[in-house]
Amino acid sequence: MIFAALLLAAALAPAAGTNAMVATEQHLATQTGVDILKVGGNAVDAAVAVGYALAVVDPCCGNIGGGGFMLIRMHDGRERFIDFREKAPERASRDMYLDARGNVDPEKSRKGWLAIGVPGTVMGLDRALREYGTMSRSRVMSSAIDLARNGYVVEPGDMIPFEGSPAEGYSGWAFGEKPHVGERIVQRDLGASLDSIARDGDGAFYRGAIARNIVDASQRNGGLLTMRDFADYTVDESQPVHCTYHDLDVVSAPPPSSGGVTLCEILNIISPYPLAQWGWHSPRETHYVVEAERRAYADRNAYLGDPAFVHDPIAQLLDPRYAASLRKSIAPVDPTPSKQVKPGLHITVHENDDTTHYSIVDKDGNAVAVTYTINDWFGSGVVAPHTGFFLNDEMDDFTSKPGVPNMFGLVQGERNDIQPGKRPLSSMTPTMVLRDGKLAMVTGSPGGSRIITIALETILNVFDFGMNVQQAVDAPRMHMQWLPDQIQYEPNAFTATTMNALRTDGYAFSEVPFWGSAQAIVIDPKTGMRYGGTDRRHPAGAAIGY
Ligand code: GLY
Repeated sequence: MIFAALLLAAALAPAAGTNAMVATEQHLATQTGVDILKVGGNAVDAAVAVGYALAVVDPCCGNIGGGGFMLIRMHDGRERFIDFREKAPERASRDMYLDARGNVDPEKSRKGWLAIGVPGTVMGLDRALREYGTMSRSRVMSSAIDLARNGYVVEPGDMIPFEGSPAEGYSGWAFGEKPHVGERIVQRDLGASLDSIARDGDGAFYRGAIARNIVDASQRNGGLLTMRDFADYTVDESQPVHCTYHDLDVVSAPPPSSGGVTLCEILNIISPYPLAQWGWHSPRETHYVVEAERRAYADRNAYLGDPAFVHDPIAQLLDPRYAASLRKSIAPVDPTPSKQVKPGLHITVHENDDTTHYSIVDKDGNAVAVTYTINDWFGSGVVAPHTGFFLNDEMDDFTSKPGVPNMFGLVQGERNDIQPGKRPLSSMTPTMVLRDGKLAMVTGSPGGSRIITIALETILNVFDFGMNVQQAVDAPRMHMQWLPDQIQYEPNAFTATTMNALRTDGYAFSEVPFWGSAQAIVIDPKTGMRYGGTDRRHPAGAAIGY
């Protein structure tokens, strides 16, 4: 018994580092980041190196065929949000996924050449390196190129993306047969693509042979992509969203991510509640957190979209008076049926994703949180000849038709409709937490629409419930997103007593085996020690400090 308890305690101990920490969902990518830091690179150099390494060793999720967000906080307090989310091709149109009867054809937005948004990862990583890094492109990409050219050996944890997922039995897998444990995967085409990017920068991807190969394949297969789509692609930079939660300053992703705004709206609603006193996942704590999530997701789905195309009412959504009005609408015990919860502003207006997150803090206190994605498992499932990487199906994150759920069950509105050059609304939530102006936590996760509540729970687990960062990322999760009107939960997220109490109050539940892969770092304010937590749901991952 004592031995079992010791084993459990050991399993839940976070990685520790006096200088720096890297947490990703693939150990070779983590090591790539640590190696860059050890030879004097900063957190941004390491983040770019990890981004390319994950594209090789975590090919379900790491990518150069998708897009994402990088949240940077330099040790001097400078903050930057780099938006390299995919854009809809110029020939995309609002109703492109509707059939002749006006019904959504989900296959079209999820698989094949019509599902692809113009990828942003290469330009995003290049921008970050140029503006905030210290090393050359070829230096930070050398490990990824080596892993692609000379291969890496598949370990049991690497098989997770292939088991029980739509990728199982999928014949379009870039390497032919599904890989097996012990096999060395060599990716020559991907190595050549990375080599040309290392040499020629984003020009190789957006104006050179890579774009040409993708566009040719797209045109042969009924897709929309053109060379102009690639040449016109741009990365945006902005300031992150901020909110206050107790004595913490939460820094997170602004639109076109819904992540930071929704996370902050939930935190604003729950901030007066004594969650720690009520207890982790107790009936009362669950009720109030779930009701806050229900209301924030209703707003998310109605009000948010690409800021280049719509006005996002961020100030109104994050106004403390608005949070107070939403709190008033929460009954002490009974759930509010989602059909009674309408987006609240008075203005007119599955774990089954292929996203990954990583967190890095360097010796100087520079921090980077990156979440990037090709959306569904193995994205659109297509690989252009000679390129070696999967292309995204990010177009499914748009509203194909108002009121019709996307693959994450999100029932979204007009503001997220498809328009040429527009970025689809995302839930990716790379986030940092500051206390007394100092970096206290870096966190984020994949998980589709559940990404936001994963970020929320990792923060609450650390700062309200006193868990260490490894416990915080491992703890079983719950989630509510307005529609469907049910609490989604992982096994062991609730005791039987709690579930019975909440069922009696009127809550419906839906069990999901597991979701997310949070990669988080917590900094001890007294010692400066960096603690890393890597999600045990993805055993290939590693948090490594030094
Ligand atoms: N592709 C999932 C998201 O960006 O929310």
